[in-house]
Amino acid sequence: MKRETGRVALITGSTGGIGTALCKRLHEEGCRVVGNFRCPDKAQALQHALEELGCEIDVRQGDVADFDSVGRMVQAIEGEIGPIDILINNAGIARDVRFSKMTKADWDAVMNTNLDGVFNCTRHVINGMMERKYGRIINISSINGQKGQFGQTNYSAAKAGVHGFTKSLALEVAKYGVTVNTVSPGYIGTEMVMAVPENIREQIVAQIPVGRMGYIDEVAEAVSYLVSDKSGFITGSNLSINGGQHMY
Ligand code: CAA
Ligand code: NAP
Repeated sequence: MKRETGRVALITGSTGGIGTALCKRLHEEGCRVVGNFRCPDKAQALQHALEELGCEIDVRQGDVADFDSVGRMVQAIEGEIGPIDILINNAGIARDVRFSKMTKADWDAVMNTNLDGVFNCTRHVINGMMERKYGRIINISSINGQKGQFGQTNYSAAKAGVHGFTKSLALEVAKYGVTVNTVSPGYIGTEMVMAVPENIREQIVAQIPVGRMGYIDEVAEAVSYLVSDKSGFITGSNLSINGGQHMY
């Protein structure tokens, strides 16, 4: 049953697999969901697909890699919908190639989106959350930021950086009622993972003790708890959702 929390939740990268599941799950929790998108054609498809499931969400364009673009988006959301209580930094890309062949463009694209994007979005919402004495920030990292992965020096560096960011910011904002946590999924069956060549993907799945890839709803379920009012004592943590593939 749909509850009404009235909390405004901004989810970046909402047109992707995990982002769409997050929109749906937080809508079920009664949040006023705003899905960020980069490409307009995908946003319309997302909104229609969610409407068919009974989920009405707002969608807003913004490039997380561009500080000013995010600023305009946040200003518009806060002016027209309301102050942002929940931010999920979910937008992300991969440019997999071994380091000896990696170009500066491969490095920059991943760092600008996956790490600078977390700064750009969080910086525009944090002061409001501190003033209102309430906030929930979730940064979507990755198992490969924890353990490393062949072909992902850029991605692993950015995703490891995300959790360093989480821990430091969590310390700074704890006394203002704002929590900051990282969620580190393992391999989840979205477009990003399906882009890995099939033979390599099969080898990776063989290393997952649960015996399968994760589902987008399994990530969304965990995030929905971390952004709820009930989770106020959890901050600075890094929750692994990886089927047992990496434990530490
Ligand atoms: N471990 C050790 N050696 C490896 C290897 C591995 N995992 N993968 C490739 N190699 C070796 C090969 O054996 C080969 O060695 P030789 O030259 O001695 O024969 C060499 O590397 C091949 O290198 P190439 O540069 O030609 O690489 P390639 O074209 O085979 O592809 C790659 C390299 C693009 C990194 C490919 O291996 C790949 O796609 N790997 C998967 C990376 C991955 O897991 N990405 C996750 C994307 S999804 C995501 O990121 C979400 C998330 O958070 C989980
Ligand atoms: P996905 O289906 O490829 O979705 C990625 C989303 O990010 C897309 O909506 C994409 O929009 C958006 N995006 C990319 N660059 C953007 C930008 N500059 N501004 C705004 N949006 C941008 O991938 P996913 O699997 O759902 O990934 C979501 C997050 O989970 C990522 O951070 C990823 O690194 C992380 N993750 C995924 C897995 C996994 O196994 N799938 C595991 C661990 C962590 P466009 O399509 O318009 O580019």
